[in-house]
Amino acid sequence: TNPSLLILAGDGIGPEVMAEVRKVIDWYGAKRDLTFDVSEDLVGGCAYDAHGTPLTDETMAKAQAADAVLLGAVGGPAYDNLDFSLKPERGLLRLRKEMDLYANLRPAQCFDALADFSSLKADVVGGLDIMIVRELTSGVYFGEPRGIHKEGNERVGINTQRYTESEIARVARSAFELARKRNNKVCSMEKANVMESGVLWRDVVTEIHAAEYPDVELSHMYADAGAMQLTRWPKQFDVIVTDNLFGDLLSDLAAMLTGSLGMLPSASLGAPTANGRPKALYEPVHGSAPDITGQGKANPIACILSFAMALRYSFDKGDEATRLEQAVEAVLADGLRTADLIGEEGRAPVSTSEMGAAIIA
Ligand code: NAI
Ligand code: MG
Repeated sequence: TNPSLLILAGDGIGPEVMAEVRKVIDWYGAKRDLTFDVSEDLVGGCAYDAHGTPLTDETMAKAQAADAVLLGAVGGPAYDNLDFSLKPERGLLRLRKEMDLYANLRPAQCFDALADFSSLKADVVGGLDIMIVRELTSGVYFGEPRGIHKEGNERVGINTQRYTESEIARVARSAFELARKRNNKVCSMEKANVMESGVLWRDVVTEIHAAEYPDVELSHMYADAGAMQLTRWPKQFDVIVTDNLFGDLLSDLAAMLTGSLGMLPSASLGAPTANGRPKALYEPVHGSAPDITGQGKANPIACILSFAMALRYSFDKGDEATRLEQAVEAVLADGLRTADLIGEEGRAPVSTSEMGAAIIA
């Protein structure tokens, strides 16, 4: 049977960039004998318009059953004043929570053709290809107690950083598994110098490494030093694994080493299922971009590279993923640019579908 893929294109430019991914998927079926059982459904504002909820139970069940979910983007000004529980983002959060997607993979990859586009020097970022694994379902964003309380005459804001051993162990395994598919190198970042949860993090990562992944090279770094090293010489890293809060900051920082939001894919992975594949949701980092929706300006590369991640991490087609990434690289080297990739130089941009067609060609 063919692997199954649920496509949730969502709102704004989501359907525009996803249309290009559909062409890539069709190409794989026609030219590489790699056929997916693709189904499509609604998430976000479009689901609210159709069903009064950003994610129906039926769609949730389809996502649970699919081998992988590919999501475009959700949200837009039309939905900004909805109740919190009906907002488009709730659909995405429900997917992440119910699929228990605890490992968020954010690559920072710099195609040589775009090295000049980075805010860092071209030799610092050129050819950069690193991966940040951020713990996504625990830590200080979720820990109890939390809230704003009155203490005497003043208010106190409280959040609690809390990690269990098993929460650290499972995201560590995700990072080590990933490293084996890449360059066998993991750097774990925490602040064991000042945080108990950091001490536990370092201990558990070290134990999992020794017991299960001794073939992978492991190093540890304090997260603040890691931030410095990421801007000084990012190519020293390959896979970085870190907690939810540090991962939020470090992955945004690393992402911007490489240029535009329109280039950045991501994956969120959960536990391995019976067939050995992890539960998985792939999506571009960018949102629904209402400012350019419907104008053919959206860069489809982030979404196409998200599909490449699905090929690699859900479908065991690392070679095909690499080929797709090389096609993106070749098109950029040829000078094709969507509007978001054009700085001062004033060359003419190509449209969303022209970019998609060039990558396929
Ligand atoms: P955004 O990522 O949608 O847009 C930020 C800027 O980057 C805009 O100027 C946009 O035109 C540009 N941009 C984004 N993706 C692009 C692409 N593929 N090609 C060319 N240019 C691109 O973030 P913003 O404006 O803060 O949010 C807009 C809406 O998207 C909001 O409703 C927000 O809640 C939602 N959002 C959804 C996310 C998701 O679905 N995962 C993530 C972030 C925001
Ligand atoms: Mg962030």
